[in-house]
Amino acid sequence: MTKHNTDQTLSYDNKVILAPMVRVGTLPFRLLALKYGADIVYTEELIDWKLLKSIRIVNDALGTIDYIDKSDGTVVFRTCSTEKNKVVLQLGTCDPERALKVGKMIEKDVAGIDINMGCPKEFSLKGGMGAALLMQPEKAQAILTALVKNIEIPVTCKIRVFDSVEQTVSLVKKLESTGIAAIAVHGRTRIERPQHLNRNQTIAAIAQAINIPVIANGGSREIDRYTDILKFREDCGASSVMVARAAEGNCSIFCSKGMSELETVITTYLKLAVDYDNSPSNTKYCVQNMLKELQETPRGKKFLECQTLEQICAIWGLGEYCRQKQLEYQAKGMMSRREVAP
Ligand code: FNR
Repeated sequence: MTKHNTDQTLSYDNKVILAPMVRVGTLPFRLLALKYGADIVYTEELIDWKLLKSIRIVNDALGTIDYIDKSDGTVVFRTCSTEKNKVVLQLGTCDPERALKVGKMIEKDVAGIDINMGCPKEFSLKGGMGAALLMQPEKAQAILTALVKNIEIPVTCKIRVFDSVEQTVSLVKKLESTGIAAIAVHGRTRIERPQHLNRNQTIAAIAQAINIPVIANGGSREIDRYTDILKFREDCGASSVMVARAAEGNCSIFCSKGMSELETVITTYLKLAVDYDNSPSNTKYCVQNMLKELQETPRGKKFLECQTLEQICAIWGLGEYCRQKQLEYQAKGMMSRREVAP
């Protein structure tokens, strides 16, 4: 029933996926996940109106496509050719028309688009986005249908579950009927937190009930190594699996040959952050999430005082690398940026 069947079209079957994570899932982190073996990487949730008031720039200095906020010049979304066939943009929206406008704007730059129907945060719920859509299946269907009918790339959504398995399966069947390519399921209800058990059996019931790939999510508490990812997928009877917190802490969880030392992961990440001119604040946030309690060590404390990318990099022996790259980018300058319609 789906139109998505060309060779280049992203398949969601049998895949290990980096989950969408606000502030974490920016370009360097997504590239890190791909380096370590993730098959597909989701962006952080991007809100429709923010994308719609951005302009698309081809950034020749960095080799990226940038969506830049017109009012303050910040990067809303940055992507590059390395991830082009593997990146899924996750959209926060409550409106079919706006969703479609975004879909049209970004369809040539990404491999898929996902609608966030699971976010339990007040900001999303008040705006009728995220998990609010679970209570409005007609609205959710209208958003998905508008995209499936009118854009070329596959459309998916990511949901949370209800207390009742039957109610969850009934919702998922309605969503499936719109022609979406796959569905990601976080096995917790809107009010459940990470300490609650993930409802793997509900995910299994969904996988039994529908004909598109189900992407199991919510298993990080039991994921300490790559084989745990596969076990979680098996427990859920799902086609694919999506990992958030375990990857946030050590992204080499995606490596089937075994994990790398955190030091190596951080160094690899920082090089990507420099290469793609990531903001110091976002870079610091991602490294903090990797360091966790190591922020209490003398080196961790020194890191917390850093304000520039070069200062952060210097702690991991990449200060000079960062300085040279930044000089190179400055020399190429803004002249290399030009606005190009998608
Ligand atoms: C998230 N999660 C999330 N989900 C989503 O659909 N869009 C988003 O932007 C975010 N942002 C986000 C940020 C951070 C820091 C975390 C830890 C989580 C939820 C995430 O994708 C996932 O559903 C849950 O974390 C459960 O999966 P794990 O962590 O058990 O693998």
